[in-house]
Amino acid sequence: LSPEDKTIILDSIRDIPDFPKPGIVFKDITTLLSNATAFKTLMDHLTERYLGYELDYIAGIDARGFIFGSVLADRLGIGFVPVRKKGKLPYTTVAEKYSLEYGFDEVEIHIDAFGENGCCTTGEPSKVLLIDDLMATGGTAKAAVNLIDKVGAHCVEACFIMELAFLNGKEGFSAPVYSVLEIE
Ligand code: PRP
Ligand code: ADE
Repeated sequence: LSPEDKTIILDSIRDIPDFPKPGIVFKDITTLLSNATAFKTLMDHLTERYLGYELDYIAGIDARGFIFGSVLADRLGIGFVPVRKKGKLPYTTVAEKYSLEYGFDEVEIHIDAFGENGCCTTGEPSKVLLIDDLMATGGTAKAAVNLIDKVGAHCVEACFIMELAFLNGKEGFSAPVYSVLEIE
């Protein structure tokens, strides 16, 4: 990614102070999505990066990971799998709890989302790229990687548009992590 393209993407994301709670600076990607140049620059970069990975699926995290993940899946010509917050998926699911600042949340995935026993037609574990807009503590994404493992597939990499590097979310991550923008 060239410095110019990085600037186009970074400048399209706005900071909203004190949302949803005092002291949090919320990274608002709606302004990236509505900026056709910035959105295309980002998706061109991710398409170029992941074309050589021979992926079987993209898994996107509820809710903003759905947007980037489904565009990328379509561009790579592969399927998209939603990792959803608890209680939204209709078929048999596997669930994983994770801790938030206060209390717990839970994400789920369909048991057959990456093929029977998580395997593709060759019988090998399906190669999955996990994607979300942002990694903060990494709790949500770590739970999602565990779900991909639990159903028998393989998380090749976890990709984020932004990483809040000062929160050290990458620590203890069981898959390689790629972040387009590292926020210090
Ligand atoms: C945000 C973001 C990530 C998660 C990152 O989603 O889109 O999924 O927080 O935080 P973590 O690294 O500390 O786990 P949020 O939980 O706000 O849900 P939403 O997309 O439904 O708004
Ligand atoms: N999820 C967790 N922290 C966030 C932040 N600062 N901005 C956007 N999404 C987030």
